[in-house]
Amino acid sequence: MVSSEAAPLAKTGGLADVVGALPSALASLGDDPAVVIPRYGSIDLKRARRVFDPPPIYLGPVRFDTAIYQAPETFPLYLVDCPPLYDRKGFYGETGVDYPDNHIRFAVFARAALAVARYLFRTEIFHCHDWQSGLVPAYLRTTFSTDPTYLGVRTLFTIHNLGYQGLFPKTALADVALDPRVYRPDGMEFFGHASYIKGGIAFADWLSTVSPTYAREIQTPEFGFGLDGALRARAGELTGILNGVDYREWSPEVDSLIPARYSPEDLSGKRVCKEHLVREFGLPAEAMDRPVMGIVSRFTRQKGMDLLKEAASRIVEQDVYLVALGSGEPEYEEFFRQIAADFPGRIAVRIGFDNGLAHRIEAGADMFVMPSQYEPCGLNQIYSLKYGTVPVVRATGGLDDTIEERTGFKFKEYSAEALLGAVQAATEAYGGREGWRETMVRGMRQDFSWKASAAAYSALYRQLLGA
Ligand code: ADP
Ligand code: GLC
Repeated sequence: MVSSEAAPLAKTGGLADVVGALPSALASLGDDPAVVIPRYGSIDLKRARRVFDPPPIYLGPVRFDTAIYQAPETFPLYLVDCPPLYDRKGFYGETGVDYPDNHIRFAVFARAALAVARYLFRTEIFHCHDWQSGLVPAYLRTTFSTDPTYLGVRTLFTIHNLGYQGLFPKTALADVALDPRVYRPDGMEFFGHASYIKGGIAFADWLSTVSPTYAREIQTPEFGFGLDGALRARAGELTGILNGVDYREWSPEVDSLIPARYSPEDLSGKRVCKEHLVREFGLPAEAMDRPVMGIVSRFTRQKGMDLLKEAASRIVEQDVYLVALGSGEPEYEEFFRQIAADFPGRIAVRIGFDNGLAHRIEAGADMFVMPSQYEPCGLNQIYSLKYGTVPVVRATGGLDDTIEERTGFKFKEYSAEALLGAVQAATEAYGGREGWRETMVRGMRQDFSWKASAAAYSALYRQLLGA
């Protein structure tokens, strides 16, 4: 697996959760996975072993020296060390600005992943994730097309989010020594730019995305980000496989990051978690008798921030409380700071990235709000089900696939009115205590563990190998 993130070492979002958990699930099915990620500045190498120094990687005349480290995991987790490229504060950029050499960074990363497969771990499948690994299929189809090492090796490209495409000036292709013939509409050309995600979409043997509904949606202009045509052209080779959840990390029965454990049989610990959360966010004691709604999110347009902006003041009129954790675009960070100031004791906000707090919100809130504009899969709503924190979601992508009328509240139209309607319905249902408890428990008893999804990937790998 070639990925720019893997939990717990490198995480900004759900991609990390997926790549952190899927390998063990595959291993327990008898597959033999390994993962390659960059070694970012935040990854401490003290616990890792230097296992290989690949020959220098040349992009044209420019030389890059890498070292491969292996992190202590139950499966091989390889870290590509190249300090000039990855030993920085961010993964992709800093203070909202992308690093100007990202095309080089993720080209060297792709080449290093190919080197891992040549010298350390003879893979049959490259399972590539998102644009940061899009050059793996592209190099395999061009630079290495006759290299015996990769003969018969298959590629699967998984799209976790079509909104992030890795677009660079067309000169990037020469910088990374790719065959100029890939610059064509059915290759990596995209409206005059070089598109790394199209490296995957055009050149991988098979495509997948992270929910069945999103697999259909991305083939339409509304959700396609300009790539719907390229995806429709490969409709027969595009599969939607719903993400699973790692219940070793995300279950109130075992979670060591929350103040008390609980289960569908004994919910008393959830009240302890709520009390703790109410205190932690400085909400008044009255909040204990009213719905506390939680948000943990990247603050981007994708996550429905515009709807929240429009609806926030009317949401709190319904005598509910809101706690939010997130970071992202300055405009939305500012908005959250502002509503917290406007509604003290009603809305409380933490700007930042804090895994422990994300767990405490999942456990302590009554409802979890995800009004996403689009959502390839979404993991938080599935975590919420397990924590008995009833999801209020927009019916799109994976949100639509995972939340049912009996386990949560859905709205269809992308409008503040529709969001308010769903919040109102949830708030009313919260008043009818017994029914609410049943909704919670139904969600808690559902099983979104990796077992089924890993089996689907494993079957797809086998199909690709003709086995
Ligand atoms: P996406 O990958 O689009 O951000 P997902 O719902 O798939 O959305 O996954 C988000 C993951 O990132 C979850 O594990 C969530 O808890 C975590 N997360 C998002 N924002 C934060 C934050 N500010 N602090 C801690 N964890 C966060
Ligand atoms: C992306 C998507 C999210 C999905 C995650 C993991 O970040 O935005 O919906 O759950 O990838 O696949």
